[in-house]
Amino acid sequence: MHIRADAQTAHDNYKLLIGSILPRPIAFVTTVNEEGVVNAAPFSFFNIVGDEPPMVMFSCIRKGNGEPKHTARNIIRSGEFVVHVVDEDNIAAINHTSINAPDGISELELAGLTAVPSEQIKVPRVQECKVAMECRLVQSIELGSSDLLIGEVVGFHIADELIHGGRIDVKKLKPVSRLAGSSYALIGEIFDLERPLYEE
Ligand SMILES: Cc1cc2nc3c(=O)[nH]c(=O)nc-3n(C[C@H](O)[C@H](O)[C@H](O)COP(=O)(O)O)c2cc1C
Repeated sequence: MHIRADAQTAHDNYKLLIGSILPRPIAFVTTVNEEGVVNAAPFSFFNIVGDEPPMVMFSCIRKGNGEPKHTARNIIRSGEFVVHVVDEDNIAAINHTSINAPDGISELELAGLTAVPSEQIKVPRVQECKVAMECRLVQSIELGSSDLLIGEVVGFHIADELIHGGRIDVKKLKPVSRLAGSSYALIGEIFDLERPLYEE
């Protein structure tokens, strides 16, 4: 079948996007508001966008009233955020942080997670996460009803036991990804394919 995007609702398009573009990695993002309260929420519209400098991006869909989410607002104001990797050990707590808590209530506390100071930026990272990336905002772009945030990763915090020869061991990290609806996925079977070389 062919479906015209402009002939159905935004929610119908959303369902086709999240059901087709999956599994999606999840950024667990901490920010701080004007009062210094730590805000935390997961975002699966997330990926790498560059390696020199290292850059990541994620997108916050605006609220029904058109206002940016607390995460986007805090980043645009302060210019800083931390992206954490979601894994099998912290997924339940991180899922809890997606609660629509009012401004000024820290989702970290509600979820029983611990904020610890970052090294290079003011926004704290979360102790229970094995990988955290300290980011400075490069650009925020208003895209329709979403705010796209692009950040430069200025520092990596990685649990010692994950690293071997500068590479992260995926079996020790045990990342969790997002599917459609309320579903998540674990890493399944892993297989390798060499990239072909074109020879004249
Ligand atoms: C696994 C997961 C992934 C999510 N991904 C997104 C996303 O990519 N974009 C978005 O706007 N909201 C996403 N959400 C919803 C936000 O986490 C939720 O709206 C949260 O309350 C936003 O917090 P804030 O208002 O403190 O920024 C996701 C929720 C979950 C549980």
